[in-house]
Amino acid sequence: MGEVIGIVSLKGGVGKTSTVVSLGAAIATFGKKVLLIDGNLSAPNLGLHLNIVDPEVTLHEVLARKAKVKDSIQKMGEFDLIPASLIFREKVNPLKLKDRIKSLKNKYDYVIIDSSPSLNDETLGVMLASDGILVVTTPDHPTLSTTIKAVNHSKKRGTKINGLILNRVHNKKFELSLKDVEKTSGVPVMAVVPHDTDVLEALSKFKPFTKYKPKSAGAEEYLRLAAALIGEKYKPVKIKRLMKWINPKKQDINRTVFYREVFEN
Ligand SMILES: Nc1ncnc2c1ncn2[C@@H]1O[C@H](COP(=O)(O)OP(=O)(O)OP(=O)(O)O)[C@@H](O)[C@H]1O
Ligand SMILES: [Mg+2]
Repeated sequence: MGEVIGIVSLKGGVGKTSTVVSLGAAIATFGKKVLLIDGNLSAPNLGLHLNIVDPEVTLHEVLARKAKVKDSIQKMGEFDLIPASLIFREKVNPLKLKDRIKSLKNKYDYVIIDSSPSLNDETLGVMLASDGILVVTTPDHPTLSTTIKAVNHSKKRGTKINGLILNRVHNKKFELSLKDVEKTSGVPVMAVVPHDTDVLEALSKFKPFTKYKPKSAGAEEYLRLAAALIGEKYKPVKIKRLMKWINPKKQDINRTVFYREVFEN
């Protein structure tokens, strides 16, 4: 039975869609069958990250019962994708998402859903459809406050929170530290992704960042996160492995704890 992971944040532009693409590509490199879904129904852009501009059948048609879910799937090579529509005019009910995609859990190992940056039915629909969510945040007070709101809402709805992804980190003193973020939110940080203009370059080439710059620090964080989430061991080159063993970061420890709790018990 496949697992559904929702990528959530209640703030725009923090890196949800980039994370869906990078994490999806990272999970696929471990040989897993992956489906990405655009659950950001009012301002969809997952397709645009991968050069799908005008899809014929989208999640909107599926939610409106005008198309079968299998007909909305686009094959991208390393993973599959269900885009959403920028032009669909009728109102659809995002809370039906879980029901409409349930048959896909038998066909994919992992389904990763992008979401809207507001606390609306679209985000709730993604939370309800997910077995666990990852909340994307950046290290600043305004984003952290919306992160806490997202965490509280998912807790209220009983959705499991797998952890936070701290994205666009500049490693500057003025930023909130990982410790601050964990202490305030009460949720472990599972990956720290540096701010990197190569992420923007990858987007301009419609490529997952993890594929475009696989040796970058950010790509490696997504690979390590992917491995922990799916119960695989990530094996970097010897010297990097040794460095992590001598000097593990807090997110390394969090990933190990997650791996042990989920896959070794
Ligand atoms: N680690 C990073 N370093 C540099 N740029 C990044 C990083 N992560 C994302 N970006 C860039 O930030 C912009 C917003 O990212 P993205 O579209 O993934 O955010 P989002 O949370 O999905 O936004 P929205 O809520 O509007 O859908 C994009 O141009 C993306 O390339
Ligand atoms: Mg987005």
